[in-house]
Amino acid sequence: VVEVDTRAPGTAISTDLFGAFFEDLNYAADGGLYAELVQNRSFEYGPADRPEWHSLTAWELVERDGAAGSLTVSTDDPPHPANPHYAVLTSTTAAGAGLRNEGFDGIPVRAGETYDVSVFARLAGGPADRLVARIESRDGERVHGQAELGPLGGAWRRHAAVIACEVTDPDARLTLTAARPGTIHLDLVSLFPQATFKGRPNGLRADLAQTIADLKPTFLRFPGGCLAHGQGLANMYRWSETIGPLHERRQQFNIWHYHQSMGLGYYEYFQFCEDIGAKPLPVVAAGVCCQNSDVTGQAGIPDEDMDAYIAEVLALVEWANGPADSPWGSVRAAAGHPEPFGLEYLGVGNEDAVTDTFRDCFSRIHDALREHHPEITVIGTLGPSTFGEDWEKGWAFARERNLPVVDEHSYKSPRWFLENTRRFDTMDREGPHLYIGEYGSWRNNGRSAIAEAAYMIAMERNGDVVRLASYAPLLAKRDHTQWLPDLIYFDNTNVWPTLNYHVQRMHSVNSGDTALPVTVTGAPQEPSAPQNPRHTVHIGTGAGTRAEFTDVSVGPLSGESEPAPDLGDWQAESGVWEPYGEGGVRQTATGTDARLLLPDAVDGLSYVLSVRARKTDGA
Ligand code: AHR
Repeated sequence: VVEVDTRAPGTAISTDLFGAFFEDLNYAADGGLYAELVQNRSFEYGPADRPEWHSLTAWELVERDGAAGSLTVSTDDPPHPANPHYAVLTSTTAAGAGLRNEGFDGIPVRAGETYDVSVFARLAGGPADRLVARIESRDGERVHGQAELGPLGGAWRRHAAVIACEVTDPDARLTLTAARPGTIHLDLVSLFPQATFKGRPNGLRADLAQTIADLKPTFLRFPGGCLAHGQGLANMYRWSETIGPLHERRQQFNIWHYHQSMGLGYYEYFQFCEDIGAKPLPVVAAGVCCQNSDVTGQAGIPDEDMDAYIAEVLALVEWANGPADSPWGSVRAAAGHPEPFGLEYLGVGNEDAVTDTFRDCFSRIHDALREHHPEITVIGTLGPSTFGEDWEKGWAFARERNLPVVDEHSYKSPRWFLENTRRFDTMDREGPHLYIGEYGSWRNNGRSAIAEAAYMIAMERNGDVVRLASYAPLLAKRDHTQWLPDLIYFDNTNVWPTLNYHVQRMHSVNSGDTALPVTVTGAPQEPSAPQNPRHTVHIGTGAGTRAEFTDVSVGPLSGESEPAPDLGDWQAESGVWEPYGEGGVRQTATGTDARLLLPDAVDGLSYVLSVRARKTDGA
């Protein structure tokens, strides 16, 4: 029997509770949500992204119908210093040579749709004053649509045209061919569907964006995660380098081992938030990079550069909220958004260890925000794992600084979530509020989805102190998935929301405003966890030997260990075994194998097994 006390005043639930977390990992941005179809469009790929990558990755020279030529790369006088590399296409024959892009696992196009094709180009010699842009089949045999770009001049200029596509092809290619012999310099070659989400230019893939919009998230956190503070100081995500004309944005390697074109930058993130009615929740680095360690050994931004960094953080608030005639508000207005974006929350730091460097950098940023923008709710950070050492130190620091909200991360087993549904009930109501900024149970199945649902109910019941929450990660592209599990999987033409997605949606779409006391009586005993016999750990000894195995823990490489299994989970395969020690097992007669079922294990993940073993007799 479930009784709800409707006469009780209840607890007000945060109106911002269930939002979404976006980070560019698993190809979530380039090749994912960002609708650009050309890969390595600015020729800025390089070994920093991936050792085998270079400026012409995803490109090839096309010599057809008697055409001959070459495709090389130059950095001499590029369209903008932020984008130093460009392609040099030379055609030595009357029939012009070309260059062709393979897209991100191919270029998906649809019959009846129109595509914006554009390129920065200049003529460097010969009469080759025009380019023909073609969307064509993978083998080049069939043209799906084409347009002419030009006339080209001796100075860099952007040339654009529209291609009407006549064929549906999930695996097309884009080819630009010189119409005549000569040398052409090309940069920022772009092919964009006109049918982006809400029709925004330089916009987002409509089906993926709609799937996120359907969550009706109250806020959207971006750009990470670890991506926000980067691998080393030079890789720190700097918001101000991601706005403005595309060819002026500074591209970067991605901490998740690919490339960030920055085509999806802060303007596009804020625009997306507005389009889906979500509050923007940007996270800036707390002056330290990922795990507080730079490749050069420099943990934080050097003292002499901190003022400039703090000014950049303050500028973000003015860019987002300042009037159109303020210095940074005018930059936003010039980009097409004179009205303020209405920034309320700002995350500072991500999973940072509370070192002296962190304390100093964070405090300086926080002090400046408090002084100049007391209207902004600053969100601090609690280390990589709930209940870990950094989490404890993070809480102490958050209390010391009297932070309004702190960001906690929990990637755990379903069991952990179910065992922790009461933890918020006893939270200090006067201390910092919680943003559960990244959480997810170890797999995409019914058990993990139910565990997350139970945890979300616990958040709602404590919606006075749990202010914000977002499952993570959000997106994962098929064949480029680096982190499991995720909320939404996709490839170039399909989107697969998970069961966990539907749990998120169920809560966010039907979020309550007041939590009333609920009493449950006569509830059935919790059924024992379903067992998945496919995933097991076998241990054993050779004949004639006996041993004890204790302190067993098993967990995914990227996550934490499953709590020690229940003694009863062990099953004898052969020989005679009995429960022993902490989650362990021992042989009571010489024997061979025992088996431990791992109901939470996920196909395709790598696991670490640790076990304490002792031989008790025999050889
Ligand atoms: O969500 C994936 C990663 O998990 C995030 O980048 C990081 O914050 C966390 O460790």
